[in-house]
Amino acid sequence: MEVVIVPDAAAGGELIATAIADLLARKPDALVGVATGSTPLPIYQALATKVRADQVDASRARICQLDEYVGLPAGHPESYRSVVLREVVAPLGLDASSFMGPDGSAEDIVSACAAYDRMLADAGGVDLQLLGIGTDGHIGFNEPCSSLASRTRIKTLTEQTRIDNARFFDDDIDQVPHHVITQGIGTILDARHLVLLATGEGKAEAVAAAVEGPLSALVPASALQLHPHATVVVDEAAAGRL
Ligand code: GLP
Repeated sequence: MEVVIVPDAAAGGELIATAIADLLARKPDALVGVATGSTPLPIYQALATKVRADQVDASRARICQLDEYVGLPAGHPESYRSVVLREVVAPLGLDASSFMGPDGSAEDIVSACAAYDRMLADAGGVDLQLLGIGTDGHIGFNEPCSSLASRTRIKTLTEQTRIDNARFFDDDIDQVPHHVITQGIGTILDARHLVLLATGEGKAEAVAAAVEGPLSALVPASALQLHPHATVVVDEAAAGRL
């Protein structure tokens, strides 16, 4: 695992956007897995800036989603589909046909999860998967104790994650769904390159546990230790416990 310490979130965003630009130069139709939350936003902004400046041709890029809330009505502004379309797909000048994600409003969620894993495999697999990290060490929505071999499936959020994410729902925890679909840890590990970005002091403990602690289902992000090509980019605050 490669750990890169950058001065701040903007520098992390720039570094990772450059890595995605390099990937698209080598493979114009690369499948890029994106994460939600606030941390990766500087990556998407830096990449969109490069596209607008014609420094990268993203016109054939394909984008896929890491996880999704279950039960939000179609088009809800905080469904991860809406977030990815708004924050990534549109700013890169792509349309919804270049995007794939799990169907959180499906009647048969179990089949929707299996269908998404198949979709990713049929698309040739994920070339680069971006990840954030939860304060409890989760990746995607794989909460502590998730199987390290898990595939895309439905999960129940912990109270802490619902509290952390209430800021996207008018600070009202009652609006935060209890259930989610997430790529499993095994699914995530199938990507050819994993890039995790963590910024801010609040992530320092989770980063230290993931990078320097033992491999453990209690810290899902420690699964990156199993991957042959994993890059962890942290700002100085998030590197504070390393
Ligand atoms: C959610 C997402 C994760 C993300 C995490 C941290 O739980 N499912 O993919 O990494 O939030 O979000 P933030 O970057 O806003 O701290």
